[in-house]
Amino acid sequence: MTESTPATKGLVLHSHARYYDFVVRMLTLGHGGTLHERLVELARLAPGETVLDVGCGTGSLALAAKARVRADGTVHGIDASKEMIEQASRKAQRRRTPVDFRIATVEALPFPDRSVDVVFSTLMLHHLPRPLRRACAGEIGRVLRPGGRVLMADFQAPARQRGGWLGRLHRHGSVTVEEVRELLVSTGFRVLESGPVGVGDLHFTLATWEENR
Ligand SMILES: C[S@@+](CC[C@H](N)C(=O)[O-])C[C@H]1O[C@@H](n2cnc3c(N)ncnc32)[C@H](O)[C@@H]1O
Repeated sequence: MTESTPATKGLVLHSHARYYDFVVRMLTLGHGGTLHERLVELARLAPGETVLDVGCGTGSLALAAKARVRADGTVHGIDASKEMIEQASRKAQRRRTPVDFRIATVEALPFPDRSVDVVFSTLMLHHLPRPLRRACAGEIGRVLRPGGRVLMADFQAPARQRGGWLGRLHRHGSVTVEEVRELLVSTGFRVLESGPVGVGDLHFTLATWEENR
């Protein structure tokens, strides 16, 4: 784990790391575990696969992915926030689950070309300015093996548009499914499936990285 915080124009969460899991529990009305199980299912994870979670936050999804790919699968999680990676590493140690968490940015992934089967990007895209979203999608394509998959999931509508106390508490941004589809297709992915995740207004897009790019 590198110690310094890398430079990025993305919105990096530092002090939020301490109460991030609490906010997720509130936003999902206590169904955070169900959300992560659903996301690994939607990504069609299989035993033995190599998985990368970009902008992994406190690592809950990466840990759920590790349970799905089992002992012969490998899971990496990266986040630009030292505090998030520290929380994620502590959680992995407590659960005695071997997941490799590192401080890094999505625009410069510290992984070789064609080395990963599945990439997750959940609730992360809305933290990036538009030009960085393109760089992020390009980096994901670079590290994916031909035929590999990316699962992106994000809020459809900004919280302030939905109103209510959650909206006032958590003023998050959003990225529509149409925007995600355009981003992925223009980068060279083929969309396999998209739709509601089934938790809040989260929507997902599953796409594959084509061989003949
Ligand atoms: C809302 S959190 C999502 C965390 C987790 N993926 C989830 O689904 O709960 C967004 C994360 O993206 C990270 N982030 C923002 N910009 C980034 C960048 N350029 N590279 C890597 N991580 C970044 C933030 O530090 C934060 O932990």
